[in-house]
Amino acid sequence: MTFLDLARRRYSVRAYRPDPVPDDALAIVQEAARVAPTAANRQPFRVIVVHTAGREAELRRIYDREWFVQAPIVLCVCAVRDEAWRRTMYDGRSHADVDAAIVMDHMTLAAADIGLGTCWIAAFDPAAAREVLGVPPEGEPMLFSPLGYPVEGDAASDRHLQRRPLGELIRYERW
Ligand SMILES: Cc1cc2nc3c(=O)[nH]c(=O)nc-3n(C[C@H](O)[C@H](O)[C@H](O)COP(=O)(O)O)c2cc1C
Repeated sequence: MTFLDLARRRYSVRAYRPDPVPDDALAIVQEAARVAPTAANRQPFRVIVVHTAGREAELRRIYDREWFVQAPIVLCVCAVRDEAWRRTMYDGRSHADVDAAIVMDHMTLAAADIGLGTCWIAAFDPAAAREVLGVPPEGEPMLFSPLGYPVEGDAASDRHLQRRPLGELIRYERW
């Protein structure tokens, strides 16, 4: 499969089978996170692997969707703000959120490559996430995703690959 095939194949999975994720599959997803590029190679992130069994109620305090806790695993990418590179020479902008997004992108694509489903989640309750997962003040929960096998026949969402035409998204030489 080419990279473009993989990128097209990944979609937001919102129906999961309860089948366990084998350790070697989880290891592949974790390794994809580990090798993700980060600004100045600071690696200012932690990935929390949460096993959903028995924790459904507290996890739904974080994001209240049935499918969020259907998969056996939920992943949380946390930023560590003080470790992140800042553009100090200009405006001081932290790139912790950019780094966290790259990590999640690596994991979702690695998961798709081995038949696992994921769905980026940003619309979660950050206070509940901090409390339920015991995230200390130096960490910031940035993104969640379930990790599990998609329900057979689960269709990609209407929005999947309904993308704007290239002509609208790509500019040459200037805006
Ligand atoms: C940063 C980010 C945050 C997202 N947050 C949510 C979310 O909170 N809940 C949800 O159901 N989907 C969420 N999504 C999934 C998008 O809705 C989805 O990626 C988009 O509609 C394109 O569909 P596709 O992923 O199937 O290609 C998020 C995606 C991204 C990239």
